[in-house]
Amino acid sequence: MNDASVTQRITDIRRARGESLAILAHHYQRDAVVAHADILGDSLELSRKVAGLSARDIVFCGVFFMAETAAMLAGPGQRVHIPAPDAACVMSEMAPAALVERVLTRLAAAGRDVLPLTYVNSSAAVKAVVGARGGSVCTSANAGKMLEWALDQGRGVLFLPDKMLGQNTCNALGVPVEKRCILDVRGGGERLDLAAAASAEVLFWPGQCVIHARFKARDIAAVRAAHPGVKVVVHPECAPETVQAADAAGSTSFIIKYVAEAPAGAEIVIGTEINLVSRLARRYQGEKTIRPLCVSGCSNMAKGTEENLLALLETLDTAAPVTVPEDVRGPATAAVAKMLEVSAR
Ligand code: 13P
Ligand code: SF4
Repeated sequence: MNDASVTQRITDIRRARGESLAILAHHYQRDAVVAHADILGDSLELSRKVAGLSARDIVFCGVFFMAETAAMLAGPGQRVHIPAPDAACVMSEMAPAALVERVLTRLAAAGRDVLPLTYVNSSAAVKAVVGARGGSVCTSANAGKMLEWALDQGRGVLFLPDKMLGQNTCNALGVPVEKRCILDVRGGGERLDLAAAASAEVLFWPGQCVIHARFKARDIAAVRAAHPGVKVVVHPECAPETVQAADAAGSTSFIIKYVAEAPAGAEIVIGTEINLVSRLARRYQGEKTIRPLCVSGCSNMAKGTEENLLALLETLDTAAPVTVPEDVRGPATAAVAKMLEVSAR
């Protein structure tokens, strides 16, 4: 089948299924997939939307943790599917649930019973570990509000798995550097510095996004030298030095708004996943100049294609939906529900 007939076939199936089918896509998906989305959004927007959907079948074009989160928020009788079930998030895999549990248990045994706050980029099993300890979830769009909430609980916080988002959020909130500590979780948690953990207010899991780690402060210096007057906006998964060198930093939806609100003629360089940057460059062509800080693509997001979307849609009634085991679903959903409640305040 050629590209045009794949596109047409997807369009026909969507039309035939009507409102019983909802296709959701994250902004990092390729254009050919985004073209079929009923709802396009960042992690927070998509989580919020799932709860209000009435479609029987929800197809989530993104990486696996996003589909898993959608499956937790879906109502009875609703089924969530992902066209590329092997689309993992490298960052989320840096925090396996068993290790998170072991580290929290070791800390508690040493008298440091911290509240865990996990970035949504984590497995349902990790969210369950967090929820079982009264913790919550955050996205890049609400990390400040959620970390403030977590600090207000008065137990100290373990922020996981993204040490970059954690540090950038602490910088924005003014948490002193001497009150922070990046954990060494190697050796099954045997190498934890318990003394350092005891005196810190925020502990960070040592994970990061390799796609966003590529954006460097020196790239920003070079782009400013070459293009005086340029504005630089980056995602908060970038290193703190990169965020500090930029004019602004924020979630995917923040970046989209930043570009939309820039005056005509603005020159903007963006440090985030290339699919979003290229789409914005095309949308504002002739009006604003949009360039990537460097070309960095998420190979897992790229696993979502029109071909596997069609293959799923062709077999939707017999395809196995994304499921979350019952013992995980309860505490993991509680952690996500807490985020939706606190972030809506
Ligand atoms: P957003 O929270 O901005 O959607 O980002 C998700 C993500 O995976 C970024 O790498
Ligand atoms: Fe995960 Fe990074 Fe890909 Fe986002 S861009 S899905 S954080 S690996």
